[in-house]
Amino acid sequence: MTIKVTPIHDAFVARIDGVDLRADHSPAVLGAIEEALDRYAVVFLHGQHLSDDEQIEVSKGFGDLSYALNHGRAVGQNTRLRPELYDISNLDEKHGILGEADRRRQWREADKLWHTDRSFIDADTTYSFLSGRIVPPTGGNTDFADMRAVYEDLPQAMKDRIADLAAVHSIWHSRALAGGVDFRHDEIATMPPVIQPLVRVHARTGRKSVVLASHAAEVVGMPLEEGRALLAELTAFALQPKYFHSHAWTEGDLVIWDNRCTMHRGTPFDDKAYRRDMRRTTVQGPSRYASAVAAYGQPQPRAVSGGRSAISAISFFTMASPKLSKSRADTRKAPGPPMTSSR
Ligand SMILES: [Fe+2]
Repeated sequence: MTIKVTPIHDAFVARIDGVDLRADHSPAVLGAIEEALDRYAVVFLHGQHLSDDEQIEVSKGFGDLSYALNHGRAVGQNTRLRPELYDISNLDEKHGILGEADRRRQWREADKLWHTDRSFIDADTTYSFLSGRIVPPTGGNTDFADMRAVYEDLPQAMKDRIADLAAVHSIWHSRALAGGVDFRHDEIATMPPVIQPLVRVHARTGRKSVVLASHAAEVVGMPLEEGRALLAELTAFALQPKYFHSHAWTEGDLVIWDNRCTMHRGTPFDDKAYRRDMRRTTVQGPSRYASAVAAYGQPQPRAVSGGRSAISAISFFTMASPKLSKSRADTRKAPGPPMTSSR
């Protein structure tokens, strides 16, 4: 078996041929894929008609898997897939198209905002594996941005400005931006916000990238609006066409990306007429908690009173840092404009 790596752009996104992961996912094959990811950040392989077991097995070759969350479904409903698989579909537990009022439909809307997978948790989410099981006839692309090139092209003054900054990431922020759902406090409490640096050094390659996502609610130590303006400015820079790739799916595609140096988003399709069944496995790296506490102080739980808006989740934790406490005091005044539209 000869593995062929074909770049789609100069140093971003590559197609890998000569691999049948059902027949061979040996360390040598997975190592070659990881080396391609180091260089291109996003790779795709056609014709990988993996079963759930096979997808999980292949993904585990890259590290420990995170488990899918069950938010967005009404109490009592069963999940459609086993917990290692994130359900990136418009389908219910009987594999029918979700009803218009189904909470899961609204939950998925935030996937159409630019984001990095699971930047809202206290762990380095490394690789995502998205398997195209059922693909609609048009639409439903997945778009990517190369955040390494974005960082490298930033003016030096901006590099200096953001070098030591960090942002507060919360899944409830992106859900609020996408239109919001009346999530319960017991749901919100399961995922408190976390801190991510604005500049990340890749553990394998040493390359720096800008860390952005629609989960980023504010910049640590900055007044709320000033921090959001900075995030919006960086996001606008990152969304220039030269950093962009759009993957048009065919059934059997496996797309793998490195969340440490990319952003992505889903794009719309006629989700009331066509089924789209994508299943994601996600590799989770080591905790970021210790380094965040060392840099910014110990989070202190604080009671939440009144209201059920998703944005109020931000106030679940007040960091010990006086700067963050100051910026956080303004958090509930307004959710702010979306970082980007869903298209
Ligand atoms: Fe995603």
